[in-house]
Amino acid sequence: MVLIHTAAELRGLLLRERAAGHSVPSVAHLASSPARWAVGLVPTMGALHEGHLSLVRRSLEENDVTVVSIFLNPTQFNDKKDLERYPSNLEADCRLLGATGQGIVAFAPTVSEMYPEPDTRRFSYPPTDSVMEGSFRPGHFNGVCQIVSKLFLLVEPDRAYFGEKDYQQIAVVRRMVEALRLPVSIVPCPTVRSEGGLALSSRNALLDENEKHIACNIYKTLSESLALMASHSVREVHDFVVTALNAVPGLEVQYFSIVDGKSLADVSSWQDSDDIVGCITVFCGKLPVRLIDHIKYR
Ligand code: PAF
Repeated sequence: MVLIHTAAELRGLLLRERAAGHSVPSVAHLASSPARWAVGLVPTMGALHEGHLSLVRRSLEENDVTVVSIFLNPTQFNDKKDLERYPSNLEADCRLLGATGQGIVAFAPTVSEMYPEPDTRRFSYPPTDSVMEGSFRPGHFNGVCQIVSKLFLLVEPDRAYFGEKDYQQIAVVRRMVEALRLPVSIVPCPTVRSEGGLALSSRNALLDENEKHIACNIYKTLSESLALMASHSVREVHDFVVTALNAVPGLEVQYFSIVDGKSLADVSSWQDSDDIVGCITVFCGKLPVRLIDHIKYR
């Protein structure tokens, strides 16, 4: 694994390797004349866990070089406290990446490296970025688009890997890629869960063991709601999930929306679309920690 901190170093390394048409020394095993030399990008904010590593493994299988960006992006945090307590440990992240495979370039820039001046660009892709997380975290997706577009311009990846846990983020990034005509394939990857069903997230590190146990109710309840679809309306399934989770001490639903899986517009009937997803955000525990999850209904 190679660790790089500046955009210039990263650009230089990728340019050299692209020109040579083969991989960096640490990934020489992959250089066996692939049809087309390809770069995969896994954007992260660090505090890596098995969910991130599943994206890295997928990228390693499909590309010659995998760039894993580790950058706690301040522009996507509308809540300063959330940013301050976001877990981070670059050393541990590098150890995990080193043990995951060869062909990884970890890119861990500083804030001033990524934002030498304030980013005044504005991105707006309603309804994907205005509903759900967009309405409860104003400016969040603008910040996500600012950093993801910068990473795309810098790395010029053939493929970029995102976890489906952040379901809405994928929809917004897809819209941005279409709007900017960026030549990158967005690869959604399945949510990785703990044994009890809790979606893995860097924020889970802020939960104690009991809170983690309580948080498993989120996916358990979402899964139970699947069975109600055949005999209950969208409104009834919605109310079942919200009532069941609010009845669990230590949990409080911020929102639960049942939406079209692509536009993210609300649906009112199961016949409204053949791609329907329930997206939820729940406050959990003492801090509290904001946890997001989703379930595919159709
Ligand atoms: O999903 C995340 O961790 C972040 O939103 C991302 C995509 C790395 C952008 O900072």
